[in-house]
Amino acid sequence: MGESRQEEKLINMNWEKTILITGGAGFIGSHVVRRFVTRYPSYLVINADKLTYAGNLENLADIDFKKNYSFEKIDIVNKEAVLGLFRKYNFDGVIHLAAESHVDRSITGPDEFVFTNIVGTVNLLNGALASWQKDFIGKLFYHISTDEVYGSLGSEGMFTEETAYDPKSPYSASKASSDHLVRAYNHTFGLPVVISNCSNNYGPNQFPEKLIPLAINNIKNNKAVPVYGKGENIRDWLYVEDHVSAIDLIFHNGKPCETYNIGGNNEWKNIDLIRMLCRIMDKKLNRTAGTSEKLITFVKDRPGHDLRYAIDSSKLQKEMNWSPIPKFEEGLEKTVDWYLSNQKWLDNVISGDYEKYYDSMYSGR
Ligand code: NAD
Ligand code: DAU
Repeated sequence: MGESRQEEKLINMNWEKTILITGGAGFIGSHVVRRFVTRYPSYLVINADKLTYAGNLENLADIDFKKNYSFEKIDIVNKEAVLGLFRKYNFDGVIHLAAESHVDRSITGPDEFVFTNIVGTVNLLNGALASWQKDFIGKLFYHISTDEVYGSLGSEGMFTEETAYDPKSPYSASKASSDHLVRAYNHTFGLPVVISNCSNNYGPNQFPEKLIPLAINNIKNNKAVPVYGKGENIRDWLYVEDHVSAIDLIFHNGKPCETYNIGGNNEWKNIDLIRMLCRIMDKKLNRTAGTSEKLITFVKDRPGHDLRYAIDSSKLQKEMNWSPIPKFEEGLEKTVDWYLSNQKWLDNVISGDYEKYYDSMYSGR
């Protein structure tokens, strides 16, 4: 990886920290990049992303001119490219978000999840190990994971940091595997790591294959809103900025080799959530009350569909005084407003490829 003179100048400036954020062009990653670039002008933030269908540099158009930010187009499955990146920047910290993240895609095509989520994570761990060469002082590898590694709950109980892993989908199995590898690199090599497992995020910039943005887009366009099964599955929803504020706290204050659960304490049955969204959309689009609800269409269930997730985030709340901010309805309204005023963003991400995926997912359901 050759460095241009400009890059060399950037790298050699007197940064307090140089941090690598992987997957920074995606939904959550772009909010993490923005927070770190704007809140910590003394950090150099390198965003490394392959720009898959889910990665979009438009998400960062408002900050990409900042002098403490730079982008590297990299596939984390490419071992040499990852090692080269670590050699080039000599990172102090890594916040690893790059992943294949959509459960339905992991059912129709699991291989990519194994490559990116498992092999990609190992490549990054090896890059950190080689770069830090056992001098771990001031270094941190922070792995962003999901509550889905714990499996599925019945009607009672919550996932705590001690809940045994029991992943059920190829996506969650690949994330569980990456969590295990991160812990193994700590146990075996002493690599300083921290992991957080978060519940369902929602908010601006989420790719419209996930439930909330998909439903907003369909309601807006008077298209059927597909609800899997009877809509009785339960998710614990968290506004993306709340996840990002937790990531900031954990990156700076997390204890080495600890795990932190992050959740909204905000459980909703899918059907109730969609009904609330329909009411909000009727209001925003000046439609007669009840219009959008008519679009709700029950479709064939997701194979192996996890029934319920609920996160106990009391450890994070107690240790770092973190708590989620907006009430769900307020967060949803903010999200709807963002999608309604960013039609160009939606048009750009809904490419020909996504339309093909959408047709193959939902035709015949
Ligand atoms: P996303 O799909 O929106 O973004 C993923 C990003 O990773 C994209 O920018 C994509 O281009 C990049 N990427 C994918 N494969 C890559 C590769 N091989 N090399 C480099 N970059 C690659 O995902 P998201 O919803 O923002 O999730 C980010 C992380 O947070 C993931 O690790 C996910 O498991 C985790 N997470 C997500 C949620 C959620 O509700 N979305 C909840 C908990 C945890
Ligand atoms: O819990 C954290 C996880 O949340 C993250 O790790 C994943 O990356 C993220 O995609 C999300 O997984 P889910 O499968 O819960 O999210 P999704 O938005 O795909 O689905 C939410 C619920 O809505 C789930 O019960 C399936 C259902 N659903 C989804 C879609 C896309 C529908 O009923 N209809 C749909 O069209």
